[in-house]
Amino acid sequence: MLEKPKEIILIVNFKGQYSRIIARRVRELFVYCEIVGFEDAFNAIKTKKPKGIIFSGGPDSVFLKDSPKINKEIFSFNIPILGICYGAQLIVKEMGGLVEPAKTREFGTVKTEFKTSSLLFSGLKVSFNTLMSHTDEIVKLPENFKVTAKSKTTKIAAFEDSEKKIYATQFHPEVLDTEFGEEIFKNFLFKVCRCEQNWHMEDFIKNTVKEVKKKVGDKKVLLALSGGVDSCVLAALLQKAIKKQLTAVFVDHGFLRENEAKEINSYFKEWEMNFVFVDASEIFLEKIKGVKEPEEKRKIIGKTFIEVFEKEAKKIKDVEFLAQGTIYPDIIESGENNKKSTIKSHHNVGGLPEKIKFKEILEPFRFLFKDEVREIGKKLNLPERIVNRQPFPGPGLAIRIIGEITKEKLEILKKADHIFRKEVEKLKEKPSQFFAVLLNTKSVGVMGDCRSYCYNLALRAVETKDFMTARVFAMPIEKLEQISKKIVNNVAGINRVLYDVTTKPPATIEFE
Ligand code: XMP
Repeated sequence: MLEKPKEIILIVNFKGQYSRIIARRVRELFVYCEIVGFEDAFNAIKTKKPKGIIFSGGPDSVFLKDSPKINKEIFSFNIPILGICYGAQLIVKEMGGLVEPAKTREFGTVKTEFKTSSLLFSGLKVSFNTLMSHTDEIVKLPENFKVTAKSKTTKIAAFEDSEKKIYATQFHPEVLDTEFGEEIFKNFLFKVCRCEQNWHMEDFIKNTVKEVKKKVGDKKVLLALSGGVDSCVLAALLQKAIKKQLTAVFVDHGFLRENEAKEINSYFKEWEMNFVFVDASEIFLEKIKGVKEPEEKRKIIGKTFIEVFEKEAKKIKDVEFLAQGTIYPDIIESGENNKKSTIKSHHNVGGLPEKIKFKEILEPFRFLFKDEVREIGKKLNLPERIVNRQPFPGPGLAIRIIGEITKEKLEILKKADHIFRKEVEKLKEKPSQFFAVLLNTKSVGVMGDCRSYCYNLALRAVETKDFMTARVFAMPIEKLEQISKKIVNNVAGINRVLYDVTTKPPATIEFE
């Protein structure tokens, strides 16, 4: 479905938490890369013939019996390799050196000294900070390898066999805590691997439009539009390619934020495609009545979504293709968990292809990261409010109302959340994600001369890059007080506002 650049860098994932960050670093330098699990790496390298290979870090010790390994044969393929942390230790072990448990675990940034005669560090300063995170240490290098960096605590912080084009760092060049990480990747990609910078979104748009036209011919395509970034950008791209052969169906489950359904309806009606807006809010509310348990809510909403969508889809005759806004992290996640399915489990349309028979599923974004999808959206002139939309869970406000959902609670939350978001949007520095949650508790208050007994509202605002971990956004207390006043004065049913000060982990970003 996607014409990939001829050159590819393969990132071998040894169960490391930073594999995706490595992939982002490579793509930011306009080089195409894919992540492959260590079990599949050997075959992938043979078939994809990458220009270079990067071994990720990982949580294991290389000398354990069951730790991730790789077929040693790849060291003789003459393909440049960059090993990072666990990847570096694996190179040492497999090629005849020695790795041992360190006396103390090393975590944090440390001043590191470099040999700039190494191609990997050429043009850099001779000393800068790197991030170390390891419990084992390399004590002896394999034959022909040379040390290229050291720190006070780590004698072998980087090493290489430049003849064999094998390079390795004990530290993590992919994280921002390591200075000049980008330069290290540039050196590896352009000086060692001699890659070209040929991964550009303009080309992606051009190629995908061409391919979609060719593949779809004069047939019809159906798209479930969720209002989120991925499906909106996909709609824009498909519209460019096939115009009226595309039908986008938007199912309003009623759990969207204030005014959102209306805005989506009026925005997409103007597009040169068939747009079907289904107001199913009453159906969803009825099905969810009395349900308190979060996972059950999600399941019911997912199932109801499929039923409603299926009914609408059947009205459109002879549709051969279903388009989905699946993106690369969804694929990586399902691969990492060893699940067969490549359909977004988070996504509303999970389960659709099994229910309705389509000739083919179109997933043009299956190798793209979110930022890349956003860039495509910008290049296709989608408005800022769609392209930079905050993540919003498929089940919507239904999982931001703790416990049972009623129409009354939904209205209260919509109003309060709207006030909160409008206020936060005025801030110069905004959090990555922010929303209100209606708690399932009531408390006593005094309003005027009267006693009140109303709902409590929690406000959540977090700082995050990847949404896997999150810090609490330091909202000024005066601002919080002002927001609280505004909410309590304007939203009947709330008399107390709380600010969530929990990081992820241990809490998740959403409450349910
Ligand atoms: P958690 O709550 O797991 O959320 O820390 C991480 C990010 O994912 C979003 N989220 C979802 N997105 N469907 C989605 O499309 C869902 O069911 C869902 N649940 C959580 C959440 O808003 C946050 O950005």
